[in-house]
Amino acid sequence: MKLVFIGPPGSGKGTLSKILATKLDLSHISTGDIIRHNINHKTPLGLQAKQILENGELVSDDMMMELVKLTLTTQENKTKGYILDGFPRTIAQTEWFMKIFEVDYYVFFNISKDTIIERISGRRIHPTSNRIYHIKYAPPNVENKDDITGENLIQREDDKPKKIKIRLAVYQKQTFPIIEYIKKHATNYCSINAEQPEQTVANEAITMLNISHPQEEAK
Ligand code: AP5
Repeated sequence: MKLVFIGPPGSGKGTLSKILATKLDLSHISTGDIIRHNINHKTPLGLQAKQILENGELVSDDMMMELVKLTLTTQENKTKGYILDGFPRTIAQTEWFMKIFEVDYYVFFNISKDTIIERISGRRIHPTSNRIYHIKYAPPNVENKDDITGENLIQREDDKPKKIKIRLAVYQKQTFPIIEYIKKHATNYCSINAEQPEQTVANEAITMLNISHPQEEAK
């Protein structure tokens, strides 16, 4: 199965991706995680992207298309299937993607601005594994420590209040219009109420995808 998750920052794309990728044995491909990995390892891509990411802006379309093409065309991802989380994010990326790749579903995350702000400001991550926590909704067993390694959790630089505002504006201007574009050019899309608690969102997604793909149940 191949799924594309599209939604505002902090809408729960990464959280749901991890749950479904485990359940359905899919690769979770988060463009944000890939870029952060490159930044941490000071690769040429990482060095170019660091400031852009920390400012809450978007990395160039060309760079992202190259990165996504390389990632999605590996034999493992082609045969295993994937959840693509964070791409496409502009009309140019969407046009390019829809010409080259076929997926089972584009999944849109619906959520209010107030909830987004609460979720992003409480998010903490374990930078090495990309495990996601929330100080209220998904707290670690020990305050500010990763459950598996015991290492410190961090707040992403782009999760600071000033940057959240910029990222929401960037989403509204550059990413929100792709929803209309996809609706106009495809029929395989659905929306999820991302406002609900984590497990409810996961159950809704599982039901929705099973209803549409009853054969997946047998896998
Ligand atoms: P990226 O990492 O993709 O950031 P994003 O899209 O802004 O999404 P987030 O990671 O902020 O949120 P999420 O929806 O995954 O929410 P999460 O599950 O963590 O991209 C970062 C940057 O990389 C971009 O700004 C850009 O610079 C660059 N980039 C990436 N892709 C690009 C592209 N295609 N083109 C150009 N540039 C690109 O959840 C958030 C919090 O809420 C967590 O704490 C979680 O525990 C909690 N939570 C989740 N679900 C629930 C729930 N149902 N109930 C309660 N709490 C919940």
